[in-house]
Amino acid sequence: MNIYPTEANTFLYALVVWVIPGGIYSMKEVWVEKYRPKALSDIVGQADIVERFNAYVATRNLPHLLFAGPPGTGKTTSAIVLARELFGENWQGNFHELNASDERGIKVVRTKIKDYARTAPLGGSGFKIIFLDEADALTTDAQAALRRTMEKFTKTCRFILSCNYSSKIMEPIQSRCAIFRFRPLKDAEVLSYLDKIAKAEGKSLTKEGAKAIFHISQGDLRKATNILQVAAFLSDEITADTLYKVSSTARPENVTSLLETAIKGNFNDARKLLDDMLIEYGLSGEDIIAQIHRSIVKLTIDDEIKVKLIDRIGEIEFRMVEGSNERIQLEALLAFFVLAGKDIA
Ligand SMILES: Nc1ncnc2c1ncn2[C@@H]1O[C@H](COP(=O)(O)OP(=O)(O)O)[C@@H](O)[C@H]1O
Ligand SMILES: [Mg+2]
Repeated sequence: MNIYPTEANTFLYALVVWVIPGGIYSMKEVWVEKYRPKALSDIVGQADIVERFNAYVATRNLPHLLFAGPPGTGKTTSAIVLARELFGENWQGNFHELNASDERGIKVVRTKIKDYARTAPLGGSGFKIIFLDEADALTTDAQAALRRTMEKFTKTCRFILSCNYSSKIMEPIQSRCAIFRFRPLKDAEVLSYLDKIAKAEGKSLTKEGAKAIFHISQGDLRKATNILQVAAFLSDEITADTLYKVSSTARPENVTSLLETAIKGNFNDARKLLDDMLIEYGLSGEDIIAQIHRSIVKLTIDDEIKVKLIDRIGEIEFRMVEGSNERIQLEALLAFFVLAGKDIA
C-alpha cells in the first residue's frame, strides 16, 4: 500500500481553487503552476540533486534519469527546469511529457513513445527529453518495451522517469538511469517558498499558520501551496484555523485530547470529541485513523501499550479500506483505547 498521500488527495484542493466563484481563475492563476520554478536556482531544498543537475547543464548533456520520491517534492518541476536550462526558450519543442498511469499499456510505449523518440531533436540540440511521469504504473511488459526503446534511441533521446517508489521499476531500467531520490521538504524550506508566494500575492501567513501548513503538508509542497491558496481566498491574513478547516485536517492537539480522553476511560466524552471532529472538519474515517496514527507516537504512555494500540489501528484501518462501517470501526477503536487505559491504571 502507498504510504504517501496520493496526488489524487491534493486534486481536491486544486478543484476548490479552480471552481472559485465566477470562474475567474484560469490555470495560470493556480499557484502551483504560477510559482513553479523556472530555473534550477529557484528549486528549494534537494541541494545535492540540484548540484548534480547543474553539472549536467554545464556539460549540456544528460544520461537517462530516474526520479523517485513522494508527491510534491519537485520531480516534475525538475524535469521541466532541466529542459528549460538545456534547450532555452524553445524547450517545449524538445520536451515531451507523458503520464504512464493514464496510458500504462505496452501499446503506448510501442507507438507514442517510439514515434516521438524517433523524430530528430529541434534547434541544433543533440537530443530531446521524454518525461514519463508515474512510471511505476507501467506494466512489466511495458517496462520491458520501454527498456528496449531507451536502448535503441539513446543517441537522440533521454528519458526522465518519475515514480514514488524506484523498487517498482525493473532493475535493467534502473541500471540504465542515474537515480535521484527526492525527499519531503523541510519546514524551513516549505516556509521560504510559501513566504515568497504570500508576499507576491499581498497576503500574510501567521506563525501558527505556518506550523499548521507543516503539519498538514508533511513536506509536500504541492499540498502546501494549494491549501495556502484556498485559505488566502478567504482572508488576507492566513491563520491556522482557516488552514485546518480548508484542508479538512483536525488540529493535532484535538486528536491528542481525543486519545487521552479515551485512555483515561471517558468513553462518552471521547465519543463526543470524535463527533465534533467528524462534523466540524468533515473528516472521513480514514483521515481520522491516519491522524490518530500520527498522534499516538507522541503520547506519553508505556511503549508496550503503544505497540498494542498501533497494532489495533492497523487492523481498523484495514477494515475501513475493505469497506466496513467507519463509524462503528472508529467507536470500536475508542473502546479499545478505553480498555487499554484500564490496563495502565
Ligand atoms: N523542491 C521544490 N522547489 C520548488 N518548488 C517545488 C519543489 N517541490 C515542489 N515544488 C512546487 O510544488 C508543486 C508540485 O511540484 P512537482 O514538481 O510537480 O511535484 P512532484 O514531485 O509531485 O512532481 C509545484 O508548484 C512546484 O513549484
Ligand atoms: Mg509530478
